[in-house]
Amino acid sequence: MNRFFLTLSIAALAVSASWSTLAADKEFEPIEKAMKFAHKAPKGEKKVSDRIIDGTASEEELQKTLVLYKAMADTKPPKGDAGAFKDRVAKLIDVTENVVAKKDGATAAYKEAINCKACHSEHKAD
Ligand code: HEC
Repeated sequence: MNRFFLTLSIAALAVSASWSTLAADKEFEPIEKAMKFAHKAPKGEKKVSDRIIDGTASEEELQKTLVLYKAMADTKPPKGDAGAFKDRVAKLIDVTENVVAKKDGATAAYKEAINCKACHSEHKAD
């Protein structure tokens, strides 16, 4: 192999390596988006999920949270059983829909379903 082709194949290798890192980053993106929007508070503010629980989240925030949870449903978790994760997310979607519909006891059920630690310990990589 002459030098030109060697350089070329090394370049091709580098491109495919960075491509696969990119793909890995994208893999859990729907989960990250949902977490960042609904479960992470901007400085000095309350988390959207906390405001869903105390009833002060806006209609728009509720709808966006629901859309983001739904996007999580078709995403494999970084860790743990994909089916168990899907069940958890399905539950989350279900209770959030009840909050949107203003059903009795919906926020209490939501609070239970978003148990951070229960899901993270099973499905979030360290
Ligand atoms: C149904 C499962 C589930 C529930 C419930 C859940 N999380 Fe997560 N969360 C995850 C998974 C899975 C990840 C890892 C995503 C990854 O590694 O890309 C994650 C990641 C995160 C991250 C990091 C996001 C980032 O920037 O990449 C934050 C912050 C977070 N969760 C906050 C919370 C908080 C706070 C709660 C509770 C109010 C919560 N999560 C409830 C599954 C869940």
